[in-house]
Amino acid sequence: MPTNSSSPYLPFGENKNAAWYGKDIVSVKQFKREDLEYIFGVAHEMRGMVERVGTFDLLKGKILANLFYEPSTRTSSSFTAAMERLGGSVIPINEVKYSSVTKGETLTDTVRTLECYTDVIALRHPETGSAAIAAKVMKKPLINAGDGAGEHPTQALLDAFTIKAELEHFDGLTVTMLGDLKYGRTVHSLARLLSLFDVKLNYVSPDILKMPKEVVDEVGAKGIVQSEFSSLEKILPETDVLYVTRVQKERFENADDYEKVKGVYVINPDIMKSAKQKMIVMHPLPRVTEISMDFDDDPRAAYFRQMEYGLYVRMALLAMVLGKA
Ligand code: ASP
Ligand code: CP
Repeated sequence: MPTNSSSPYLPFGENKNAAWYGKDIVSVKQFKREDLEYIFGVAHEMRGMVERVGTFDLLKGKILANLFYEPSTRTSSSFTAAMERLGGSVIPINEVKYSSVTKGETLTDTVRTLECYTDVIALRHPETGSAAIAAKVMKKPLINAGDGAGEHPTQALLDAFTIKAELEHFDGLTVTMLGDLKYGRTVHSLARLLSLFDVKLNYVSPDILKMPKEVVDEVGAKGIVQSEFSSLEKILPETDVLYVTRVQKERFENADDYEKVKGVYVINPDIMKSAKQKMIVMHPLPRVTEISMDFDDDPRAAYFRQMEYGLYVRMALLAMVLGKA
């Protein structure tokens, strides 16, 4: 199936001079506002192609290694689907215990091995900074699919794409992030990414799960107004995007601390009565108890649509780093 030859984003040949050819995607700090516009343009094309033809051959012959040291449903399967919809293939290492990691092989040796057989690696790892370490020893592109409590840049890009698709713009929006802002890597990436725009950020969390100072300082340096709260009530009526997160049980050093804060916020239809009608509720998922299932049918519940947007954004990113967009 030929690709869309009239598209400004999807050429036939590999373009080694393309801006993103061979680049790693490690942190959202790499992106400027115009990069986002470009990525969203490519993702939009990908959406159209998936809707029109399903699968096409833009990345035929290319191989992705999906190297996941931590559990994943969405990120690993959407990278797989993205690669396969583009005609490429995937080496899945979703359970590193069956790999030579169990024999003591280091992360750097593992990625050096996999890049011998593949064109790009998506890595999820429990340690903050692991993606940068892996990228440094690699010649092929590395995509950070979540490094501990550090960042989740492809999630933030799909989150931003969701906001654009659902609310059409960023400037002037009030975005409220709720839950585990300390360990939640998605909010670390999203707050940084949104600081490219004229947004207002509210952070709602228990005292022990506040947004890290490092992120607040970086975002503040861009002139963004940020406010911290322990309860949602007062700011829900002004919120355009409510970004809910799961309390990251697996990152707590002390199980008692987790018990104290688990289930601290629950979004349900009753609470949402005070929110605007034109606003969205997002969640990177998986959810545990922080959004009740009886809210799922509300048109403002954008979290399932958000997952689908992730496919198009990851298709765009793979095409870009492989010189095909
Ligand atoms: N899936 C997201 C992540 O891996 C959010 C979560 O697990 O709560 O960061
Ligand atoms: N949003 C997200 O990263 O989901 P998974 O942990 O299931 O990949």
